[in-house]
Amino acid sequence: MSLLDKHGIIERNATLLLIGSLVVVSIGGIVEIAPLFYLENTIEKVDGMRPYSPLELAGRNIYIREGCYTCHSQMIRPFRDEVERYGHYSLAAESMYDRSFQWGSKRTGPDLARVGDRYSNEWHVEHLTEPRSVVPESIMPSYSFLKTTPLKVANVTADLEANALLGVPYSEEMIASAKADLAGQADPEADTSGIEERYPKAKLGDFDGDPTVVSEMDALIAYLQMLGTLVDFSTYDEAAGYR
Ligand code: HEC
Repeated sequence: MSLLDKHGIIERNATLLLIGSLVVVSIGGIVEIAPLFYLENTIEKVDGMRPYSPLELAGRNIYIREGCYTCHSQMIRPFRDEVERYGHYSLAAESMYDRSFQWGSKRTGPDLARVGDRYSNEWHVEHLTEPRSVVPESIMPSYSFLKTTPLKVANVTADLEANALLGVPYSEEMIASAKADLAGQADPEADTSGIEERYPKAKLGDFDGDPTVVSEMDALIAYLQMLGTLVDFSTYDEAAGYR
């Protein structure tokens, strides 16, 4: 009996065909599902990662609202040309608190995963207001309205609570002080010792050049200036990172 005939037996018998199909589908299923049980192992243990401060979170929401991700990715691939241009390739741990992640694959503009600390706040204000004033050939749209739009966050406590529900480690203390932290981070007069303790390396003070109002641009720049700065790669042990 040839192989073709044997297959004919399966095809003519509904029960056999059903069992055969189930076997094939479950092999495919196991291949896709089994790795999910080992997901923990793929996230490196690194020092420095923390949840977003309330102001950074608000800035991130503006980043998403304005569709910055349609032109910018936030993932440096482990290739030499990328690492030389942008810095250490992105680690899974660096986006573990992102709901939703901003990796992306569309790069009309440069990757922003490590844009924090690369430019001054003043540069960002100039650039967001009129990109061509600092990069003459830029095709990025102007976002000048962000500077004149006061930041309105309907319920920052609920924002943090929703993230906590999804597994972001916001403590009770962080949630309780969310409202004060949101205003305090962009206020040069505020006592920021609590914010610094809760959100190490958070950038403080006025961002957009107007200390009298907390604008949407303040929040967006606070977010941009933090991107990629939390993990200290001078102390990161690559081999140990992948245990
Ligand atoms: C239509 C595509 C487009 C959109 C939308 C866009 N950008 Fe850009 N962006 C660019 C391009 C192109 C550049 C490179 C030229 C320049 O620096 O302006 C750039 C550059 C930048 C840079 C400088 C990066 C570097 O390393 O030099 C930052 C920061 C930035 N964009 C932030 C944003 C933010 C924040 C938003 C959303 C509010 C945004 N962009 C929306 C296209 C875009």
